[in-house]
Amino acid sequence: MGKFKYKSPEIGENTKKLIERDKSVYFGAHTRSREIPLAISKAEGVRITDLDGNVFLDFGAGYAVASTGHCHPEVVEAIRKQAGELIHHPGSDFYLEYETRLCEELVRLSPGNFPKQVYLASTGAEAIDSALKVARYYTKRPKFISFFGAFHGRTFAAMSVCGSKKVQRRGFGPLLPEVVHTLYPYCYRCPLRLNYPDCKAGMKKIDGIPLLPCVAFLTDSIFKSLVDPSEVAAIIVEPIQGEGGYIVPPPEFHKLLRAITAKYDIILIEDDIQAGLGRTGKMFATENWEVAADVNIVAKGIASGVPMSAIIARSHLMDPGIDSRAWVPGSHGSTFGGNAIACAAALKTIELIENEYMDNAKTQGDYILARLNEMKENHSIIGDVRGLGLMIGIEIVQNKVTKEPFTEDFTEDGKNIKAVIVGEAYKRGLIIFGCGFNSIRISPPLSVTRKEVEECIDIFEEVITYIESNLQ
Ligand SMILES: Cc1ncc(COP(=O)(O)O)c(C=O)c1O
Repeated sequence: MGKFKYKSPEIGENTKKLIERDKSVYFGAHTRSREIPLAISKAEGVRITDLDGNVFLDFGAGYAVASTGHCHPEVVEAIRKQAGELIHHPGSDFYLEYETRLCEELVRLSPGNFPKQVYLASTGAEAIDSALKVARYYTKRPKFISFFGAFHGRTFAAMSVCGSKKVQRRGFGPLLPEVVHTLYPYCYRCPLRLNYPDCKAGMKKIDGIPLLPCVAFLTDSIFKSLVDPSEVAAIIVEPIQGEGGYIVPPPEFHKLLRAITAKYDIILIEDDIQAGLGRTGKMFATENWEVAADVNIVAKGIASGVPMSAIIARSHLMDPGIDSRAWVPGSHGSTFGGNAIACAAALKTIELIENEYMDNAKTQGDYILARLNEMKENHSIIGDVRGLGLMIGIEIVQNKVTKEPFTEDFTEDGKNIKAVIVGEAYKRGLIIFGCGFNSIRISPPLSVTRKEVEECIDIFEEVITYIESNLQ
């Protein structure tokens, strides 16, 4: 056990009673924690009120879902109006004007000036499964390439392409066969122990783009010794790794994947579920590098919290009327995909993001990054600050020079450093989450104001200072 003295947050009386009731009926494999013992009563904008009347500043946005802030009045009104007119329609069979409109919007906004079609589902993992099915069906190839550090969801296929934490896979095998994981450019802790951009020196070029050694591991090792690229249906990748640690790849990375997939007729699937729809300051995160994937997947923030996900794919992959290799009617579908209330919420969400919040994400995100980078200079345990827009990761280290992380049993009772930071922030009224093995994520609603940002940064700095001054 470690030496750090840490006490979990106090719990209010009403919250305590709920936790007691909940314990026997809610599934025991949840990750609700003593560090954020939050029982929500209501939420508005960037503030959450708990059952005991305490108010918190929400810089997690329910894992990047409350994109327009909690209960944005225009989203609430769109949902209310829709609920009075139509709640459900079987989308596989009947038409709905605003569902068509939502698909038109997603086609308009997604990267790539080519025909696209949309499939609507309810959760991120379901959309991931759908995209993998599209790719296998169309290519008739069995294999997928995914990445260490990736998180794509909890269904069997989505879990099979995950590479984030072993607890998410252990005990569930055999998983989908034919998935091979390769290296993601986690430059702060390069798996090849190299430094970007020096690592590019002397590398050959693909389509004029210098190959990164971590990508060369795919092209020159995996594709030569393990997997023939002609057997690969798709490469599935997050534009920025989310659960894996908010890891922003260098600008060449997605361009290289685009060039490699084009060369071997492999489908490029970009999982924009966490990074997408304005969070990085662009509607789709790969726009930051001018890359258009064959399939883009969005979920989380698309409908401000009403469950919805979508895959947006090149039309020929989706429509047997255009290409006979595409999946046929009846081969895929979902009862709730394109739900009427979700469509209404998504249309309003997209309008708000496009008109206002996407720019705000860039402005506030740049400011937070600058402030955190300043803070990094003055604090011994902030090893790395990285991000785009309002998708910001802070990696915590024990030693800045060696980048040595704190041990998993950092506290006297065996808690890790992420839990301590999250818990100390909660005690001071700030909700933030951990990610990766040593990082904290900052992912507030895109509507966040400068005042709320200042409040968050002040609390975060107080927490870091408190921990540093209590290190043994
Ligand atoms: C990048 C990414 N893909 C997929 C998922 C899975 O989404 P869901 O939990 O809605 O199934 C997540 C969820 O965190 C995610 O961050």
